[in-house]
Amino acid sequence: MLSASSPLSTSSPNSSTSCGYFPRPSNFYRYLHAKNGQPAWALVTGASHGIGKTLCFELASRGFNVVLHGRNHTKLETVREALQQAFPLREFRVLILDATTCQQDDVSLAPLAAELADIRLTVLINNAGGGKSDFRGFEDYTKQDILDVLNLNATFVLLMTHAFLPALIKNAPSLCLNVGSLADNGLPTVASYAASKNFVTGLTRSLANEMLLQGHDVTFMAMRLGMVTGSGEVKRPPTMTVPDTVTFVRALLSRVGCGRTVVVPYFGHALQQMSVEMLPEWLRNRIFVKQMLKLRTEGVGEEKKGA
Ligand SMILES: NC(=O)c1ccc[n+]([C@@H]2O[C@H](COP(=O)([O-])OP(=O)(O)OC[C@H]3O[C@@H](n4cnc5c(N)ncnc54)[C@H](OP(=O)(O)O)[C@@H]3O)[C@@H](O)[C@H]2O)c1
Repeated sequence: MLSASSPLSTSSPNSSTSCGYFPRPSNFYRYLHAKNGQPAWALVTGASHGIGKTLCFELASRGFNVVLHGRNHTKLETVREALQQAFPLREFRVLILDATTCQQDDVSLAPLAAELADIRLTVLINNAGGGKSDFRGFEDYTKQDILDVLNLNATFVLLMTHAFLPALIKNAPSLCLNVGSLADNGLPTVASYAASKNFVTGLTRSLANEMLLQGHDVTFMAMRLGMVTGSGEVKRPPTMTVPDTVTFVRALLSRVGCGRTVVVPYFGHALQQMSVEMLPEWLRNRIFVKQMLKLRTEGVGEEKKGA
């Protein structure tokens, strides 16, 4: 019998398909190490709302100081103040950058990395992401729409990792967690988003192997997920397949150290993914179409607007 804490893992259909049971417990605390009195810090992108915000509280409760990244100073300050009140012994910093601008010639992430040069960063969580949620046809999005989605979900992950990898290598053992999505299975009407999330898993796999090749103790993992409530566009009561952010974040952190690079950390999502992988491709694709039509009809995007 599977329990909510069963470490299930599946891989994407476009790699060798497998599902597994991973008995190894989380080794997340491996990354909570101080040196010369300098405590460990984690940096979370997209920290002002949803999964990112919950991650900050969870990390602080586990002993980390946290850098909160986002684009809205007021929202981030509100989260920072709540964190400081809840965890007076921890330190928190705020980092502002609109991720959709990260590819512009006049925007560099180097100054951000320099701004954090004095802290001992051991965990980077590339969480900021999302997409347009009105489920239009690809041809109906503007060029700016699809590039914004690509830059937020893919280019920003690439450039943040590039900017902060030297710190992670210096402070090893360290961890880079990249937040993906089960949309990478090939969900229709969110093509730019789905393709960006495929980019994230591909990048993670390559860099995980590159760390091995170079002998650096930096763990790279990509976490693929289905719907989570209280985050993104989703505002509905939690169920077995749609957990709330706290349940999801705890599942995510408990998969660290499971021995896999790409993981579906929450068991309800893993069950969904495993059922999808067992189906023939034609049936799987029909289910995806039906799913997206249902979301379009239900207006998931409206849930947040109504929040
Ligand atoms: N929730 C789900 O059902 C679900 C499913 C699959 C995958 N995911 C993935 O999980 C991750 C977290 O999603 P979430 O659902 O927690 O999203 P969320 O609640 O909408 O939060 C997204 C965070 O990213 C920030 N952000 C968005 N656009 C940004 C930009 N251009 N520049 C800087 N920051 C930006 C947001 O800031 P603002 O507060 O300023 O908007 C917010 O802090 C994403 O990578 C998403 O793709 C979520």
